[in-house]
Amino acid sequence: MSAMQAATTNRIAERISSISESSTMKVAADAMKLKAEGVDIVDFGAGEPDFPTPDNIKQAGIRAIETNFTKYTAASGTAELKQAVCERHAKDFGTDYKPSECLIGVGGKHVIFNLMEALVNPGDEVVIPVPYWVTYKDVVNFAGGKCVFVDTDESKGFTLTAAMIEPHLTARTRMVIINSPSNPSGAVLDNAEFEKIFRLTSERGIYLLTDECYCKFLYDSEPFSIASMKGAKESVVVAGSLSKTYAMTGWRIGFGLAPAPIISAMGKLQSHSTSNPTSIAQKAAVEALRGPQESVGVMLAEYRKRRDFVVQRLRSIPGVTCQEPRGAFYAYPNLGVVIGKNGIRDSVVLSERLLAEGHVAVVPGDAFGTNHHVRISYATSMHELERGLERIHQFVVKYS
Ligand SMILES: Cc1ncc(COP(=O)(O)O)c(C=O)c1O
Repeated sequence: MSAMQAATTNRIAERISSISESSTMKVAADAMKLKAEGVDIVDFGAGEPDFPTPDNIKQAGIRAIETNFTKYTAASGTAELKQAVCERHAKDFGTDYKPSECLIGVGGKHVIFNLMEALVNPGDEVVIPVPYWVTYKDVVNFAGGKCVFVDTDESKGFTLTAAMIEPHLTARTRMVIINSPSNPSGAVLDNAEFEKIFRLTSERGIYLLTDECYCKFLYDSEPFSIASMKGAKESVVVAGSLSKTYAMTGWRIGFGLAPAPIISAMGKLQSHSTSNPTSIAQKAAVEALRGPQESVGVMLAEYRKRRDFVVQRLRSIPGVTCQEPRGAFYAYPNLGVVIGKNGIRDSVVLSERLLAEGHVAVVPGDAFGTNHHVRISYATSMHELERGLERIHQFVVKYS
């Protein structure tokens, strides 16, 4: 390494060292590398639907290109798409957001990033239930905030209660993040408990971020948004995404619903970073939100079949436990039976060994704040699930 190269490494800004590479992205890269070398990998790492984007949505994108809707739009998204988001949210959940309370971002992740930058000051505390989606802690850290983690009880399906949150609220608490259904555990917050958390936070002037990324993928309950509660619009901030609901991960469209001053602050930041989300994708998103919704139910029915199979198959492995996911498309089994044995120090080593020796890609629980688990995405075919779970079974039997 030259002196200049070494100096450059040392000169990377400090705020970048406050964050780490997304573990889910790393797993995908490692698995892809082995696949490119010709290794037969079963990939349970990907957090995205294996279904194609529905045809009506694809056609809307094609029409956008053909009619030259290919230029800049307003940086915070088109008026048409904001209106479509507000209408869909009103129809699905009974909310009454106006386009001035809506921002379109380059995926839900971008919206959450902008939101943290807009609301969190250095030293502010943000309460995050464990296990958590990887990105929350890094975007809080990047904004200079302090993550306050709240443990949940695995034996109770990782569900959260207001009583678990309350002791962690302080004068510095700026925000509480709720992700229901949860990535990675599939836990779904009980509506009454969600309401209690809302009362607790709103009384104290704390923002409640509800990440509704998987809101349509529920197995035993109806879609619900805390934003529909009376008075919620003052302190609730919704982060939504079209990625999973409409199998549109590559199109990169997400949205925020929040009080107008917050939306305006996020829009200001966006106007100097990404500018508008892709014009073509915005047209496709309008069709997704306003067009037929049947594809969502078709995907959910398929995920349910797979969930039932995955849970039952994991539970048949000696020493492995698995809570039943009540939403999303992930299982989060406890593989503690092999941890601490044969050099398998933690869930990171476990995932590395599972990939290298068992040829199955999973995401280590470490990425989500727990150490005896791995995340299995069942957004893949039954055939792959059967093959991959058999490999995990063999691995666990060999090393436990
Ligand atoms: C819980 C959760 N929130 C938000 C997102 C963001 O998705 P996107 O940026 O594709 O909209 C994801 C993606 O995996 C997620 O799992």
